[in-house]
Amino acid sequence: MMRKKIVAGNWKMNKTPKETAAFLSGAKDKMVSDAVDVVFCVPFVDLQVAVDALAGTGIGVGAENMHFEDAGAFTGEVSAPMLKEMGVEYVVLGHSERREYFGETDEMINKKVKKALASDLKPILCCGETLEQREAGITIEWVRMQIKCGLLGLTAEEVQKVVLAYEPIWAIGTGKTATSEQAQEVCKAVREVVAEVYGDATADVVRVQYGGSVSGANAAELFAMADIDGGLVGGASLKEDFADIIHYNK
Ligand code: PGA
Repeated sequence: MMRKKIVAGNWKMNKTPKETAAFLSGAKDKMVSDAVDVVFCVPFVDLQVAVDALAGTGIGVGAENMHFEDAGAFTGEVSAPMLKEMGVEYVVLGHSERREYFGETDEMINKKVKKALASDLKPILCCGETLEQREAGITIEWVRMQIKCGLLGLTAEEVQKVVLAYEPIWAIGTGKTATSEQAQEVCKAVREVVAEVYGDATADVVRVQYGGSVSGANAAELFAMADIDGGLVGGASLKEDFADIIHYNK
């Protein structure tokens, strides 16, 4: 099974709309790829600028979060229909920063995944352990549970549309990348839990990214691993060097 790699930038809370327009108009030509699906996940206020700037390039745009209801009294939130209408294609759900700083639970994240799929948005569902959990030897158990909970109630067909992102929290923004063996071990475990619950055919198709200090220097080695189908990239996606990750095999 040849899964197409997917490299997604996660800008987090960086770049204003003007900065987004300037960066993407200057850099987009270098980011285009036939071999790899490329996505920029950007702050809500930058989405329209990104959608317009990237139109016709084949590069997708994603949000970094969304609410699980379509509309209503949820001050400060943004819904799936709003994203969809803007031409957004992907949405990052359950990033560790959302879990840690904004109290997102597996239950909320599961509702968001369901809503995204029902709204024809492609979720990038994140999982990953803390350093304490890794040192306690419960990484695999923890990540398996996050994946099971995040995907709860979906059909196998729906799961095939989800991108899973394994991001060890201790490797995010720290410059400390998991070794390719460590990343492979957990990405394989993620695929195995999908196989157990949704069957081998679904596990073969579902894409599993690694995230955590991915750079042009380590992308080729990470993406060569059997169960790593690309990366979710924070810091390095803010610069033109992101192209080195997209064209990792050149
Ligand atoms: P990083 O972030 O590449 O800056 O480590 C990854 C992420 O949080 O998605």
